[in-house]
Amino acid sequence: MSACVEVRGLGKAYGGRTAVAALDLDVPAGSIFGLLGPNGAGKTTTISMIAGVVTPDRGHATVAGHRVGADRGAQRVLGLCPQELALYDELSPRQNLTFFARLYGLRGQALADAIAWALDVAGLRDRADDPVRTFSGGMKRRLNLAAAILHKPTLVILDEPTVGVDPQSRRHLFDAIRALAAAGMTVLYTSHYLEEVAELCDRVAIMDHGAIVASGTVAELIARHGKPPLLELELAGDEATLLAARALAARHGPLDGAGAVVRLPQPPSLGPLIADLESAGARVVRITAQPTTLESVFLALTGHALRDE
Ligand SMILES: Nc1ncnc2c1ncn2[C@@H]1O[C@H](COP(=O)(O)OP(=O)(O)OP(=O)(O)O)[C@@H](O)[C@H]1O
Ligand SMILES: [Mg+2]
Repeated sequence: MSACVEVRGLGKAYGGRTAVAALDLDVPAGSIFGLLGPNGAGKTTTISMIAGVVTPDRGHATVAGHRVGADRGAQRVLGLCPQELALYDELSPRQNLTFFARLYGLRGQALADAIAWALDVAGLRDRADDPVRTFSGGMKRRLNLAAAILHKPTLVILDEPTVGVDPQSRRHLFDAIRALAAAGMTVLYTSHYLEEVAELCDRVAIMDHGAIVASGTVAELIARHGKPPLLELELAGDEATLLAARALAARHGPLDGAGAVVRLPQPPSLGPLIADLESAGARVVRITAQPTTLESVFLALTGHALRDE
């Protein structure tokens, strides 16, 4: 698959502090690509340079073959949905979108069609003429997205679009993003929510301290960097049996748990483990597995949790 966004050696410092350091990134055309990282990782700075609103100190980006900053080519084919809402509260969605559509150079029927389409994508058609100040945070986020797609861009960049959004609006936003991708657009999506990125994105790049520490599909990242799932087995048997069974289980991995509960990283195959436990005379009455998540990948790669909760 060809790349819609190519970033090479992109860097930016603010007052001597590195915000983004020599970043390389390829966003495949037609994908939903997640840029995942904690507060201050450099996500907004990165996408701002891709969108041409922040000038890099070094390196460059291209969008659909247009070199960012060379002329307006890249800006014409991308839509940026910024982290901060950029809306007029006293105006309705239709009035807001008319304002932005004119900035994109749309007029007449093309303008009316673009607004109707964007309102539909954002699921705001029945609130199109109410003042934006009466909207929930989630509805404002959806309108923010509508404003970014009026010119049917090749690339849509969304910067943390679900912060402060209720579950229903989040669902609408996800549906809208999937619809845009299904229509052939490339989506670059920043977030510090692992679950969102895992659910929505085809590919993910994990960013920390201005650098990308890993990228790939969620499954690839888990396979490459995640620890194996933790298994918990509950055994039945008398004390001596359990002791013997635990000793045998310890051959299959670092053992945890106590008494009848055995915890260990999932071995490549369960058969030999269970056979060993049974040969000691124990019965396996329950097996549960704690799946590996992107969270543990992040922890393994950066040494710290994504959120401080
Ligand atoms: N205009 C600016 N002036 C000075 N420092 C900045 C500016 N913009 C960003 N920074 C700094 O650069 C670093 C990266 O910031 P950036 O906003 O790109 O991170 P982020 O990943 O988007 O974070 P968040 O999740 O909080 O939005 C931070 O240390 C930030 O304080
Ligand atoms: Mg940001």
